[in-house]
Amino acid sequence: MKKLIVIDSCMRAESRTKLILDAAVAELSKRYEVEIIDVNSVKLSPLDKITYVEQRENGNIPPLAVELARKVAACDRLVVAAPFWDMSFPAILKSFFENISLFDITFTDDGTTCVGLCKCEKVLFITTRGMDIKTGDPLDQGSPYLAALSFLWGLGEVITVAATNMDYLSPEDLVLRIEAAKTEAVEICKEF
Ligand SMILES: Cc1cc2nc3c(=O)[nH]c(=O)nc-3n(C[C@H](O)[C@H](O)[C@H](O)COP(=O)(O)O)c2cc1C
Repeated sequence: MKKLIVIDSCMRAESRTKLILDAAVAELSKRYEVEIIDVNSVKLSPLDKITYVEQRENGNIPPLAVELARKVAACDRLVVAAPFWDMSFPAILKSFFENISLFDITFTDDGTTCVGLCKCEKVLFITTRGMDIKTGDPLDQGSPYLAALSFLWGLGEVITVAATNMDYLSPEDLVLRIEAAKTEAVEICKEF
């Protein structure tokens, strides 16, 4: 069975993003061996002035970071789920990506530029946004980041499912919007 990794950066117990993710995972589990990485449970320090020097300049990459980077590099498909925070996604997810963005694991170089090393061919990004900001709007800085990371790591096409205007819809419309996003995600997952 092909391997799919879910990078779950949902933050709230009542997360709307998680509702859409759960629907997608239920569909994907029919065809993939799914492993979920809960970003909130990964105990890796953010790369700051001290950890950068300790880890990157002295070659002391935490074994957990190497293990997770290898897993992500080897998987066939990737799903990333995160709420829209401060016009992007939570910093803990960016920190996770930085920790596992490792030379000769997720990317390398060919002497002139960086080249991705990941096996993954498609990424599904699931998000919900408080304001009515559509994917592709310059105000959305979440999905463009993933597209850029896909370029660096060689992850393939990034497909975004976004439910927007979450904080301004009536309770009835909110339910309908989430259901529509779940249906959209499940349809994508059938071909993913
Ligand atoms: C810390 C924080 C930052 C947020 N920043 C934004 C923002 O910049 N723009 C926006 O449209 N919504 C923002 N929101 C609203 C969320 O995107 C929205 O409520 C989303 O549905 C939350 O996802 P969740 O239900 O999965 O937690 C923010 C919410 C929180 C808690």
